[in-house]
Amino acid sequence: MRQPVDRTPVWMMRQAGRYLPEYRAVRSQAGDFMSLCKNTELACEVTLQPLERYEMDAAILFSDILTIPDAMGLGLYFETGEGPKFHKPVRTAADIENLQVINTAKDLPYVTDAVTMIRRELNGRVPLIGFSGSPWTLATYMIEGQSSRDFARAKTMLYTQPALMHQLLDKLALSVIDYLNAQIIAGAQVVQIFDTWGGALSHAAYQEFSLAYMQKIVAGLIRHHDGRDVPVILFTKGGGLWLEAMADTGCHCLGLDWTMDIARARERVGDKVALQGNMDPAVLRADPAVIEQQVAAILRGFGQGSGHIFNLGHGITPDIDPEHVKVFIDAVHKFSGK
Ligand code: CP3
Repeated sequence: MRQPVDRTPVWMMRQAGRYLPEYRAVRSQAGDFMSLCKNTELACEVTLQPLERYEMDAAILFSDILTIPDAMGLGLYFETGEGPKFHKPVRTAADIENLQVINTAKDLPYVTDAVTMIRRELNGRVPLIGFSGSPWTLATYMIEGQSSRDFARAKTMLYTQPALMHQLLDKLALSVIDYLNAQIIAGAQVVQIFDTWGGALSHAAYQEFSLAYMQKIVAGLIRHHDGRDVPVILFTKGGGLWLEAMADTGCHCLGLDWTMDIARARERVGDKVALQGNMDPAVLRADPAVIEQQVAAILRGFGQGSGHIFNLGHGITPDIDPEHVKVFIDAVHKFSGK
């Protein structure tokens, strides 16, 4: 971990997705997004699509964080033009009492089957990243029943029934440990925990309701598999104030969103963890020359030495011109190479 490399490695959150015409074609072949996730061959195909076009240094499993609540019986569905929704959101003590911790082998075999097939198809070209949502981020979708601006229902539960919220987060943390370990055994060589909504919490609530559970997950993960260490990346969007605490969880790398100055982030965590990030995905809408300037500025900000994985500060959006992605990936390699 943090080993020296010839040039800064780069991948993109949501690198397989709607900005690619070939992704949209395969999704319509599958029918809808969840059918695509559940079809091993097609999930493998879209995972590899960005690698056919660009010199990406990693593949990320094509799936979703909401597979866990779906497997818990909440009934995930996507309506066109809107985000994810659940038929049966979790609202009461009885709802939470009835949730079963997932058993990945039994409940989510399509995810590990995809990992196995992708590893075989990658044939050592680049490493494969597995992933999961954080318990808090999963809980927001499960309680709200959909995406939310203010997390009104989830925060009401957090402040009025904290013990109930902890019961839910505990079941989710145990599920995530099982899920990520199953991905590791199936062949994922790195895992990332997406805490997309941790940054919506207060300082104290973040430690108690999000970070504590991610720490528990890190402690429960397989550390070595197949003769190698398995690094864990923690990404809390809006988590810039808490980098030191995140680095203390025992994870190996912190994902940074674009609000952070990567130079300051590095001063704060030192050599304890690697850093991943952190170009604003909106930069990809600008002209190639601007994209190149922004890439160079982040590389300069990180400075010399190992321990940087280039990425966006959050997922790429569907409106981006695929040619601009090529400019981005090539710029990282061009400016960081010896
Ligand atoms: O990064 C990758 O390429 C791997 C695949 C991946 C997807 N979702 C595919 C996807 C990953 C890692 C995710 C994670 C995910 N899913 C997160 C955490 C990361 C983040 O972006 O913050 C969250 C919050 C979700 C939940 C989710 N799934 C939402 C909110 C949506 C709707 C997004 C939208 O823009 O409409 C999804 C659907 C989804 N997941 C799509 C993709 C490619 C788009 C579905 C489609 O093809 O129509």
